[in-house]
Amino acid sequence: MAQSEESLALHTLAVEASKKAHSPYSKLDVGVAIKTREGKIYAGCNVENASYPEGWCAETTAIGHMIMDGGGLIAEVAVFCPQMDKITPCGGCRQRLSEFGDGETVIHLCDGGGVVESVTLAALLPKAFDF
Ligand code: THU
Repeated sequence: MAQSEESLALHTLAVEASKKAHSPYSKLDVGVAIKTREGKIYAGCNVENASYPEGWCAETTAIGHMIMDGGGLIAEVAVFCPQMDKITPCGGCRQRLSEFGDGETVIHLCDGGGVVESVTLAALLPKAFDF
């Protein structure tokens, strides 16, 4: 299936971000790139810690960059991990993405060659917690 140039660009940034992962414990190098509705793009990698629960996900790093740059509504996300055929965001990150996205936010699940599957946040996180 043909891939849009935009999703290819996000894929490339997610791959580059994964190379910066600090993941000596799981050895899963996760990279994420998010694009806001305004067209701004932010990348992130996972950052693990010897005290395992203190580590955090690639999505969290990217969201932190977005917030520090003034925030935005997340329109698209690419997620990549070279050690996995098709990584999907963890439950906690689905909730974090939903804080700054909406049901139409598109998550591109990637492998080294590009986008393998694109799913909406509504499909990944039905009945998200919100108040
Ligand atoms: N990880 C992410 O970075 N994002 C996800 O959505 C799933 C999990 C990271 C966290 C941890 O460093 C490693 O993958 C194994 O759980």
